[in-house]
Amino acid sequence: MNKDLIERLKLNFETEFKTKPILTFAPGRINLIGGHTDYNDGFVFPAAIDKGIVAAIQESNTNISSLIAIDVNERHEFLLNDISPINNGGWKNYVLGIVSEIQKTGRTIKPFNLIFGGDIPRGSGLSSSAALENSVVFGLNELFQLGLSKKEMIFISQKAEHSFAGVQCGIMDQYASMFGKKHTAILLDCENMEASIVNIDLGDHEILIINTEVKHSLAESEYNERRATCEFVVSQLGINSLRSASNDGLLLIKDKISEADYKKARYVVEENNRVIQAFNAIKNNDLEQLGKLLFASHKGLKQQYNVSCNELDFLVDYAKKSSEVIGARMMGGGFGGCAINIIKKKFLEPYINDVAKAYAQKFNIDCSFYTVNLSDGTRIIKPI
Ligand code: GLA
Repeated sequence: MNKDLIERLKLNFETEFKTKPILTFAPGRINLIGGHTDYNDGFVFPAAIDKGIVAAIQESNTNISSLIAIDVNERHEFLLNDISPINNGGWKNYVLGIVSEIQKTGRTIKPFNLIFGGDIPRGSGLSSSAALENSVVFGLNELFQLGLSKKEMIFISQKAEHSFAGVQCGIMDQYASMFGKKHTAILLDCENMEASIVNIDLGDHEILIINTEVKHSLAESEYNERRATCEFVVSQLGINSLRSASNDGLLLIKDKISEADYKKARYVVEENNRVIQAFNAIKNNDLEQLGKLLFASHKGLKQQYNVSCNELDFLVDYAKKSSEVIGARMMGGGFGGCAINIIKKKFLEPYINDVAKAYAQKFNIDCSFYTVNLSDGTRIIKPI
């Protein structure tokens, strides 16, 4: 955890609001494999990381609630009885959405002040939004003794994203950010929320995240469209979700749906199988197999599900050509954001240098690099 960030937030809060805050930390997440399977009741394989959002929060002594996003130096004030989504409201909608969803459960909160900041890149596939949602709901739960369970909190976070940010996201990000455990990843069955925790020891390999530093503008509407497509195919199949679809079942309705929709649904069926295979590969310490599955996942996301972009494809193709990297794929919603790579530790530095040069040459943009440690989920932190 970032001690400087925590200290800075605490000091800022005390200077601004003249009281001591409660501090929460909610991590971002990676996802080893299982892209766009969560809202299809399928399997995902995420882990919380050691980077995320820190929120400082305390009751207000007026009826006004103030929110401050320290990283972008923006402030918003509101009244608890007058909350609605803000057009292009960005971070504000995540926080307001949490407040509104808590109120919808019948629980009462009082006016509060909040300052938050983070050390994960925003909107780039590491779930900064889920981290913000979780840090706020966790803080409010503690401050006002709301008695919400962690599971209730992640569904509040997810609903906030649906109703205030307008993204019909699945539950993976909020789950991983809340329930992450040090050194482990979580195989989550999104149909029944059953989780299997597995130790991740990649030996002489490690996880390298590369941020394309691009986010193509249609990312959110495309995301919602994919979800709608999957729901349409499910309605044609007459089943509950693509989780219970099979390739044979899809063949039976092939002439009732478009070729593009057929390919997308097939991707989901195949990706679900890959997640289980990846889980077994990790348990058997078969990193080579894990790597192959990551490349296959990316191919499906690119060619069948159609959510990649040139920048992500470039990074994954580069990885494929390098013997140092055993697997790579795009991560998160797509259309920009990050790629996850599994790379031999001793080649990390030269690989970063090579990719940085090649990427800048091709796109005239500097990509950025993160190595991450798998970490514990959302929690209260003691000031340092
Ligand atoms: C975003 C969403 C998740 C999930 C991923 C794609 O991160 O928030 O629910 O659907 O995209 O795997």
